Amino acid sequence: MKIIRRLYRAIIACWRNTIFSIRNLKGRVRKTGRLSLNVPLICDGSGQVTLGSDISIGYGLASKIGDGMVRLQARGANARISVGSATQFSNNVQVFAEQSVVIGSRCLIGDAVLILDSDFHDLSADGRHARPAETAPVVLEDNVFVGSRVIILKGVTIGKDSVIGAGSVVVRSIPPGVIAAGNPAKVIRNL
Ligand SMILES: CC(C)(COP(=O)(O)OP(=O)(O)OC[C@H]1O[C@@H](n2cnc3c(N)ncnc32)[C@H](O)[C@@H]1OP(=O)(O)O)[C@@H](O)C(=O)NCCC(=O)NCCS
Repeated sequence: MKIIRRLYRAIIACWRNTIFSIRNLKGRVRKTGRLSLNVPLICDGSGQVTLGSDISIGYGLASKIGDGMVRLQARGANARISVGSATQFSNNVQVFAEQSVVIGSRCLIGDAVLILDSDFHDLSADGRHARPAETAPVVLEDNVFVGSRVIILKGVTIGKDSVIGAGSVVVRSIPPGVIAAGNPAKVIRNL
């Protein structure tokens, strides 16, 4: 019975990966192992996206808008997005990098999370339509758990094992081993 169940799961995973990867895996992607696609994945932009092994994209039972697409956009030619092994993304996660976004191993990224490493527009009144924006790398260390609908902005590092509460806006770095929440996100307690 166990063997049949395993075989069934393997066939379904294979079928999903074929459907989603053929239609949607675009851009410069370096993949170092198995990738499990449960929603479409778009890797676009002209930069480099590097995916470790056993990454899971989308989750059938989680909140889903449209087809639940996950988007990893390394926008400029020098932009980099890197995701460590065994990290799990829920549905509708979007990561936009002008410079660098590094997501560690075994992270859990909740549905509709948005990660930006740039303001994308200069802030000055006359410069915002023309001048390049300020950028600063974003790092999520290993085993970080990001709740639903969190926004993580440029220059933020989230320390190993930390948890970010649902709906938070993270504008400053968060140390390892804590729970942080709110807008702007502040440490609410140690783990
Ligand atoms: C952050 C979280 C883990 C905290 O859980 P907890 O330790 O049980 O915390 P509590 O509910 O006891 O709340 C502690 C304090 O933090 C505040 N708080 C909790 N979650 C918050 C949030 N998301 N935003 C702002 N404040 C929050 C509470 O209001 C409370 O403040 P108070 O002490 O002034 O009353 C939880 O609230 C949360 O957001 N979980 C994420 C769920 C999620 O998105 N899962 C992903 C699905 S894929």
